[in-house]
Amino acid sequence: MKLNIAVLPGDGIGPEIMKQALKVTEAVCNKFKHELKYEEAIVGANAIDVTGDPYPSQTHELCMKSDAVLFGAIGDPKYDNDPNAKVRPEQGLLRMRKQLGLYGNIRPVMTFPSLLHKSPLRADLVEGADFVCIRELTGGIYFGKPQGRSEDGDTAYDTSVYTREEIERVLHLAYKFAGQRRKKLTVVDKANVIATSRLWRQIAQEIAPQYPDIETDYLFVDNAAMRIIQWPKSFDVMVTENLFGDILTDEASVITGSMGLLPSASIGIHTSLFEPIHGSYPQAAGKDIANPLAMILSVALMFEYAFELMDEGALIREAVNASLEAGVVTEDISDGGKAYKLSEVGEWVTNYIKNK
Ligand code: IPM
Ligand code: MG
Repeated sequence: MKLNIAVLPGDGIGPEIMKQALKVTEAVCNKFKHELKYEEAIVGANAIDVTGDPYPSQTHELCMKSDAVLFGAIGDPKYDNDPNAKVRPEQGLLRMRKQLGLYGNIRPVMTFPSLLHKSPLRADLVEGADFVCIRELTGGIYFGKPQGRSEDGDTAYDTSVYTREEIERVLHLAYKFAGQRRKKLTVVDKANVIATSRLWRQIAQEIAPQYPDIETDYLFVDNAAMRIIQWPKSFDVMVTENLFGDILTDEASVITGSMGLLPSASIGIHTSLFEPIHGSYPQAAGKDIANPLAMILSVALMFEYAFELMDEGALIREAVNASLEAGVVTEDISDGGKAYKLSEVGEWVTNYIKNK
């Protein structure tokens, strides 16, 4: 198979982890005889430095003509404490999502037996937890207009907007995932207070009968936040709006004890995009110490979701698990044992695949 990939390393640790992810991608393509072509493009703070735009049109054109996008991270501390900055790296990320039509963000939450003791929760609560959050990614309060300030600057407003079409397509996506898993879908909203949530719940109730083999239940978002830490094993697939999904997926990722290991996929109308959920981690940039495994597992998701190449994805997962079991891990999870460098972990995983 021919794989045409757009590679967007981005900011912070993005370039370092991407380098390892590409080595892994190449090793897998060699092993399974796929023809790999990839091209790099800029995005985020470094794209602002070069072009003034965090998501330049050349980058967008490359993404549109590729079969999949591998994305590292964006963000730079120099923008975080400057509420007056006119252009921000995050705007690039939001435009990328919107312009690529990436309405469904899939964040699997899984635990790794060797890392259970790093969870802030008791091991018996998290052991075996395995669920998927599907976050709506191109609507809601992130994009609704009007957004801004009053003339005197002392009042600010955001608007949350959802249309039937936006809600329906992400619910169907969530049902598809639930159908391939344990057949349980939890719709998370705040229908007791906000209008958009009431539309979400109404549409979910209309659609549910189309999926009679899937059990649908409904939770208010505050209750869901509680349940994620009290009883994470009760979830299979969870679907929710953009802002709630942003918050809940950070919460969900951290209970595994290994945020540095969790990948994500964003899918929708145009090219799908694969990225680690951990962000740009600027404190570690250039030091060769960050954990490359979430980026590498994002490559596994790319093989599986963008190309339906399941054996390729499985081999990457196997290699990552083997590195964890062999204790070839970066300092965030080394726990007093030997801490390997980012590049050493990437090298180890790549060699595992080559020698398999
Ligand atoms: C995420 C991030 C982004 C978001 C930021 C960087 C704009 O937190 O992908 O979860 O809020 O969507
Ligand atoms: Mg977030």
